[in-house]
Amino acid sequence: MADERKTVFSGLQPTGNIHLGNYLGALKNWVRLQDEYDTVYCVVDLHAITVDYDPVKFHQDRLEAAKVLMAVGIDPGRSLFYFQSQVPQHSELAWILGTMTPTGVLNRMTQYKDKVAKGVAANLGLYSYPVLMAADILLYRASLVPIGDDQKQHLEMTRDLAERFNNRFGEVFPIPDPLIPETTARIMSLQEPGNKMSKSDPNEKSRVLILDSPDDITKKIKSAVTDSDPDVRFDWDEKPGISNLLEIMSGCTGQSIDDLVAEYGDKGYGVFKQAVADAVIAELASVRASYKALDDAEVARLMTKGALDARQRAEGFQQEIRKFTGLSGI
Ligand code: AMP
Ligand code: TRP
Repeated sequence: MADERKTVFSGLQPTGNIHLGNYLGALKNWVRLQDEYDTVYCVVDLHAITVDYDPVKFHQDRLEAAKVLMAVGIDPGRSLFYFQSQVPQHSELAWILGTMTPTGVLNRMTQYKDKVAKGVAANLGLYSYPVLMAADILLYRASLVPIGDDQKQHLEMTRDLAERFNNRFGEVFPIPDPLIPETTARIMSLQEPGNKMSKSDPNEKSRVLILDSPDDITKKIKSAVTDSDPDVRFDWDEKPGISNLLEIMSGCTGQSIDDLVAEYGDKGYGVFKQAVADAVIAELASVRASYKALDDAEVARLMTKGALDARQRAEGFQQEIRKFTGLSGI
């Protein structure tokens, strides 16, 4: 019987350093959605090579990212899970969508502008990165995309492209909705709470990695930059460091921010930070344990199988798109 469930798609770049922001902003939703939806998850290696990289290290990072995602709970038995570059249909659809993307739209993409402003070499791949992302999503006719706040603009562009395609060629694509968490969509750096927690920050104390040891987690949370007033309150303007820790704790325990403020409001930062560290350690303990139990060769085998299944599924839809666009006969 055909699978009637709606399709979910999301991707993560294999640049090492998968952190608590990735986990609370996106990956927790990836795992949860597997229960209800047809889920397709992808290690987006073609996106990652748009910035400078070392091919030998990158090859290890790709497998490492797949392993961490499996440890987090992505189950290749329930989700289609593979490396983007092993499914060439992504690139073909990106080309087709690229012919429909005004350069004026790409010029407005803030992620591209930020990267170039920070000194990343501008190249065509980095510029058209959002078009490849749109192709990833639309290739599976996904209707829901779990992401953090920083991907919102790219998703809006994907929606516009889907509409543009449908108007020109017929109702082909559903218009995908983002799924962005209410409280943890933008986890900030522990050292500079004005900036988001990021894989590329040179300061390792700025982020908790998913596989950090309990000791490292405690050290990083305890040295998180806060302020000198002792109240634990949720106030992004006056207390960005504490507000970030409140979001992190809420994301890990499921308690509301209000409940946490009621519990820790007057206990002082020392007690609060220890409680945040304990919550993060408890949340990530099972991920660390699953990671240790995974075997590299088995992860690689599952990724090869995932790519074969994904290719088969993508091929059917590729033929349809070719027909709609006149690239093959009806
Ligand atoms: P990336 O590491 O850029 O491949 O991102 C993978 C996923 O994590 C995307 O859905 C991002 O939106 C999300 N993400 C990245 N950094 C953060 C952050 N600091 N807070 C919340 N979500 C994030
Ligand atoms: N651009 C996304 C990021 O950096 C990764 C990504 C690529 C993605 N393709 C996607 C996310 C498709 C969601 C859907 O986080």
